[in-house]
Amino acid sequence: MSKHIDSDCAVLIYAQSVCFFDSSPYGLFFFMSLNKYNLDALNTKIQTMEQSSDKQTQITMRRSEMAFSLKELPTDTLFELFEAARWAASSYNEQPWRFYYAKREDPEAFVAVLNLLAEGNRVWAKDASVLIVSAAKKELHRTGRQNFYAMHDVGMATANLMIRATELGLATHPMGGFDHKLMHDTLMMDDTEYPVAVIAVGYKGNAAALPPELQKRLNAPRVRSNIESFTFDVNDL
Ligand SMILES: Cc1cc2nc3c(=O)[nH]c(=O)nc-3n(C[C@H](O)[C@H](O)[C@H](O)COP(=O)(O)O)c2cc1C
Repeated sequence: MSKHIDSDCAVLIYAQSVCFFDSSPYGLFFFMSLNKYNLDALNTKIQTMEQSSDKQTQITMRRSEMAFSLKELPTDTLFELFEAARWAASSYNEQPWRFYYAKREDPEAFVAVLNLLAEGNRVWAKDASVLIVSAAKKELHRTGRQNFYAMHDVGMATANLMIRATELGLATHPMGGFDHKLMHDTLMMDDTEYPVAVIAVGYKGNAAALPPELQKRLNAPRVRSNIESFTFDVNDL
């Protein structure tokens, strides 16, 4: 049942925002009549970190940082992150992750990756110490057939990497906003590899030095869906 409320709610909110921005009389009626339903539904779905009763853990402390200091990241520390990635679970233990890294102290490499990021990401990612490009090996080592779980497993390894970074007091920010085709070619990946994400890694910097719109984004409450909205007891279906 909750699943139905979910999709209904999404449709209503979308329709409502279209009408609202359209500012038609129909939109206003629609907005007023459905507002209460939407808010009730949303209130049961959304929880901010401030409201959460969860204890702070490395998992909740990780956040997508945008204020990086210009400090160098020692190679040993970088490899501690890869060590954490290495121990991720993977289908058939294929370990289909690949990580390409560009350090800011190697300007040619760093700028080559930085330039392929979406403009909105470049603004803050330029201050990161390292840009890590994760990639998925799409084919199974043993059979050459498609590895259906490749992207999943790259995500698992990347999560390990970011949680370990948090544990070490580092800041991270994953990005999907980059030119995948150019990244693939620039990093000389062959056809069996696919670039998945770019992860900015570094030390937390001074948020007050960021442009105001980024400060606003950083200071906004961290919002998550309530557990009830994405878990389903099979016994109740
Ligand atoms: C695969 C992926 C792609 C993302 N792409 C971008 C991006 O291009 N730019 C950006 O600013 N944040 C990006 N993010 C960060 C998300 O916006 C962020 O994780 C989400 O809003 C939750 O915030 P939190 O990471 O601080 O908890 C991406 C995250 C993931 C996992």
